[in-house]
Amino acid sequence: MVVDKLIRFGSDFMDQIKVIGEQTLSGKIYISGSKNSAVSLIPAAILSDKVIIDKVPKISDVNSLKEILEYLNVDLKFEGSRLYIDSTHMINKDITNEYSKKLRASYYFMGALLARFKKVVISLPGGCSIGKRSFDFHLNGFEKLGAKVTSEGDLYTIEADSLKGADIHLPFPSVGATVNIMLAAVFAEGVTTIENAASEPEIGNLIEFLNCAGAKIEGKDTTKLTITGVNKLSGGHVEVIPDRIEAGTYILAGVMNGKNLEICDIRPDHLTSFFDKLREMGANFEIKETSVVTNKVEHLKPVNIETAVYPGFATDLQQPITTLLLMADGVSTLKETIYENRFQNTKYLNEMGADITIDGDTITVKGPTKLNGRLVKTSDLRAGAALILAALSAHGETTITDIKHLLRGYSNLIQKLTDVGAKIWLEDE
Ligand code: EPU
Repeated sequence: MVVDKLIRFGSDFMDQIKVIGEQTLSGKIYISGSKNSAVSLIPAAILSDKVIIDKVPKISDVNSLKEILEYLNVDLKFEGSRLYIDSTHMINKDITNEYSKKLRASYYFMGALLARFKKVVISLPGGCSIGKRSFDFHLNGFEKLGAKVTSEGDLYTIEADSLKGADIHLPFPSVGATVNIMLAAVFAEGVTTIENAASEPEIGNLIEFLNCAGAKIEGKDTTKLTITGVNKLSGGHVEVIPDRIEAGTYILAGVMNGKNLEICDIRPDHLTSFFDKLREMGANFEIKETSVVTNKVEHLKPVNIETAVYPGFATDLQQPITTLLLMADGVSTLKETIYENRFQNTKYLNEMGADITIDGDTITVKGPTKLNGRLVKTSDLRAGAALILAALSAHGETTITDIKHLLRGYSNLIQKLTDVGAKIWLEDE
């Protein structure tokens, strides 16, 4: 109940999670559909008429997108985790702060509305405060396709008489820019190429969906996309791929506290770099076709990690794995290369007993650490995941506040962990 309230009202509810650590976790955790896929598939749905999306995760980011679509007069209906979207009667309206600020992915309405209506008026996106997170590559891409971009305060207007295919080279393989430019190019006249494109599995999931509705996009899973403009999309049915970051988070929980804890419904091939690091640390895990079985080991080796774009070590698993590095026998380092401010978890880990120092883009983690339960605060989504992992391992009770960030990305977190033996519950402040 409280979780539903939080998902619906987000930051208006300031509840907290309590955890009593050192419990053995065993059984099965089923992974939900990927947040970062779902949040691009849902805005992309407005390029077609009637769309079905399966395995939509129950997270507040999805709810925020639903609110934007309802405001734009789009019909949505959930049947379990299946989402029906009918945008036949959609109206193009200004998306102001109250809608856009709730999540990062609100900016996918830039590409989607530009493609469909040739005009979009939208305010700045929200999302985790983990770096500058500018979107100049997106805007430059729209301009290359023939759109005019103007801004007044927080409000951006992007419009075009017509969009024409162009050759676009991204300065960095940005996930958001790749998605947004691809959406804008679906109906552009002629051929668009995106070079140095991001090749994350979530982008492949979006391409699969758009092509199934009639788009012509080549280059899935590569760094060069070729989009041949079409006049119209129709229908479209897609299943959201498993959330590789949610999977990684629970695999870490198993490596720290598991006894035959199986993380199910995953795509192991999306987690290769992550598994390489766990192997190097000497973690106990067995990869099966669509699951991973994890067990706690007494001794782990320290490692050096550097985040990178896919298929490198995912920045979204950087904060969660920091908690595992605390358990290693020796000094590990972790270099964050994607965001400038993604170490906010370390302050609270240190308060729980860790020895982590920050030097520019790198942290040094001295293990092994005995963590103690404390009152800690979630600063962003993956920092929250790192603190949950710490709380599960810590001696005594941990209280985690500001959990709205966690609910943006982890579907049924409390239930999933309770089902495998964790002592974790939601409490009103
Ligand atoms: N960048 C620019 N200019 C741009 C676009 C990006 O300078 O126009 C920079 C960013 O500031 C950042 C880097 O490029 O330093 C990477 O940004 P990217 O655009 O790839 O990230 P994003 O699209 O904003 C998505 C995910 C993030 C994930 C990153 C990297 C969504 C909604 N978000 O963000 O997910 O970390 O790709 O994989 O898909 C999370 O789930 O916790 C999360 C933050």
